[in-house]
Amino acid sequence: MTSGNSAAARVTRRTVLAAATAWPVRSAFAAPCRTLPFLWGAASSGYQVEGDERAADIRILERVPSTLFREPAGLADDHYRRYREDIALLAWLGFNSFRFSLEWARIEPEKGVISRDALAHYRDVLRCCHEHDLVPCVTYSHFANPAWFAAEGGWEARDAVDRFLRYCDVTSRALGDLIGIAATFNEPDLHKLLLWGRPGEPAGKQAMLSEAARQCGSDRFGYYLSGDPQRVEDRMIAAHRRAIGVIRSGPGQYPLGVTLAMTDDQAVGPPGRRDEKRRYVYENWLVAARESADFVGVQVYTRNLIGPAGIVPTSASSEKTAMGWEFYPDCVEGACRYAASVARLPVVVTENGIATDDDAQRQHYIRSAVAALERARRDGVDIRGYYHWSFLDSYEWSAGYAPHMGLVSVNRAMQARVPKPSAALLAGLKLPGSVCWKLVR
Ligand code: BGC
Repeated sequence: MTSGNSAAARVTRRTVLAAATAWPVRSAFAAPCRTLPFLWGAASSGYQVEGDERAADIRILERVPSTLFREPAGLADDHYRRYREDIALLAWLGFNSFRFSLEWARIEPEKGVISRDALAHYRDVLRCCHEHDLVPCVTYSHFANPAWFAAEGGWEARDAVDRFLRYCDVTSRALGDLIGIAATFNEPDLHKLLLWGRPGEPAGKQAMLSEAARQCGSDRFGYYLSGDPQRVEDRMIAAHRRAIGVIRSGPGQYPLGVTLAMTDDQAVGPPGRRDEKRRYVYENWLVAARESADFVGVQVYTRNLIGPAGIVPTSASSEKTAMGWEFYPDCVEGACRYAASVARLPVVVTENGIATDDDAQRQHYIRSAVAALERARRDGVDIRGYYHWSFLDSYEWSAGYAPHMGLVSVNRAMQARVPKPSAALLAGLKLPGSVCWKLVR
């Protein structure tokens, strides 16, 4: 009786332990291994660099009379036509990976109509990366969506998940064999991050959305920063989980994840409010990543000090970037530690950088950020790559072309590129070695 009970207790303990570690252990043994270098790259997104993306939702928002966008993207960096020279430049600088997005609005400009030309274009971009020994790091959705999707309500529409899955299916079937690593969404938590601890939505946003809806002959217009944040998060998490399955069933075997907008959140006094922010903004995504993905992408630029009354304003005397954010490159360390501890996954820093016209300040930022990354790694955080935001000076959404975040400056009138000294500095800090990724299947 007694021994029976203790055997039962042993079994139970073992069962509990096995359940707690079942996912990583099982997948690690059964999984194929995809070897990638320690990823050292620079990042972009389609809408911000490609130019003339006519079927995108942002294109409508930036042109309505009550727009909150400083200026339209227009031809941007004309990267859609100049990707060959841009990719060659990135490789020449000494990087080993290029992060860019596939644009749903180009691939499916009208509902149900797939553009073979757009898919062929992205195949060329991927091939070009391989020709230059760059690992293509692909984002399936980086903020811009097709206007028709927005006019159906965006992520609040009933069949939003199915629409996204169809796009992922078509795209990964056509391109998967050439992809090196990918994320479903870019910063799906950004809306919540911007709302937490703040008085509400910016004035004028609703008017802008109503005008955009009217222009599309609809009564709604849902873009990446609109809608009920919880409803949208639930939908996008469902879409992410199912998209991972859809993408995995296509050709190619590559690490899959999701990238999150983060600040390095530091408690001032009791950590209660800081922890509340973490729960509200990141936690559901980190748990979803843990249960579905191979990695989590950390995108971090600065820190937030959080006291019992919420976010503590940064002191007037502290150094700031051109975005008005505190100059705090050490944010990489805190954000990676936190993300890894909750997601229990490898981390890739998929964005980090600074808006500044002073390249010496950027160089200072880069040196400190890489040192922060190294501290976290030495301490055992499994970090597998670093991407600087951004590769080219590009369209900074509602801030237009005013902030300069690129390693490479772009004279848009001439479409001429000039690498800044920080580009060579960062390329020279590239971490050696490669990593065997045991992929979840
Ligand atoms: C986004 C980029 C953006 C960058 C700097 C991130 O939130 O992913 O698209 O340009 O931050 O603002």
